Amino acid sequence: MENSVIIGSEALPALTALLASPAVSRVFVLADGNTARQCLPLLRPHLPADYKLIEIPAGEEYKTLASCDTVWCVLTEERADRHAVLVNLGGGVVTDLGGFAAALYKRGIRFVQVPTTLLAQVDASVGGKTGVDFQGFKNQLGVFQEPAGVFIDPQFLLTLDPRQLKSGYAEVVKHWLIADAEAFDTNRRLGWLTDDWTPIIRESVALKQRIVAADPFETGLRKLLNFGHTVGHALESYLLLQPGREALHGEAVAAGIVCESWLSVQHGLLTAEELDKIETFVFSVFAKISFVSMETEAIAELALQDKKNSGATINCTLLQGIGRGVFNQPVTVAEIAESLRYYHRLPS
Ligand code: GLY
Repeated sequence: MENSVIIGSEALPALTALLASPAVSRVFVLADGNTARQCLPLLRPHLPADYKLIEIPAGEEYKTLASCDTVWCVLTEERADRHAVLVNLGGGVVTDLGGFAAALYKRGIRFVQVPTTLLAQVDASVGGKTGVDFQGFKNQLGVFQEPAGVFIDPQFLLTLDPRQLKSGYAEVVKHWLIADAEAFDTNRRLGWLTDDWTPIIRESVALKQRIVAADPFETGLRKLLNFGHTVGHALESYLLLQPGREALHGEAVAAGIVCESWLSVQHGLLTAEELDKIETFVFSVFAKISFVSMETEAIAELALQDKKNSGATINCTLLQGIGRGVFNQPVTVAEIAESLRYYHRLPS
């Protein structure tokens, strides 16, 4: 099977062709409650008649080993062999978890990603990262495993509410900030809403693919993609443990983008004027996440769990100017707490 990313109206017909291969013994579709209801009807005409649906509940709180257990139980009950293919239909939770479950079942069966959110289309489904959350930490367990194909149909975005769409847009903004100053400048003038996401998805996926191709296992360059995520993940993990205060991944990343841009200024890498441009654009799209200043230390401590750290050093990706990320920049917990206090003081 070819390991490719197909974007646009040709994506689902290409999936049909792949699944019709005699090398595929059985097709399983992993969906959550939302995508089973809203997206499966669009996918069904492209599936073989005898596919088997595996459904897990929707939400980050179900990105767990227990949900993998559900997947593994169905595969085992149905006697799926190593030629079975798992089609992951959903956002980042489903594509990450499904990839992980497939990579472990019988030491690995093939899986394909059919991402249905902007976040999964421009980021999660591309680049072979799979995993689940564990003990309150995001993606604590996981493996690098490339899917057999990624099939991106922007029509799925019509099923999303604006909050979900914005959440994915944070990753698009991140891509511009680390590697494409011109696109950042054009798009901050145009504003975030568009009738046709296809060109933005194509460019964002191409940018990510270039980085992943150069460093698939994140030993260097791929760490650029972590911009906004050192603080973003810490904030997201903190709020995840507090029912009713959860932030969407992209909302936390948008806050992380502001904090880490501020840190870039403190490290003498970014100008105050550039920080202002970034903040103005981020807050034109995303509402501020609320927390009290007493919480900043506890949030910052969580950044110590980031997978890109070495020992007690927090390795952050910062900006050496807009459009130019720089990875492995050591920052302290105290600096992260200070960046959160800066964010907290900004006007809502
Ligand atoms: N989401 C960041 C990466 O794939 O490396």
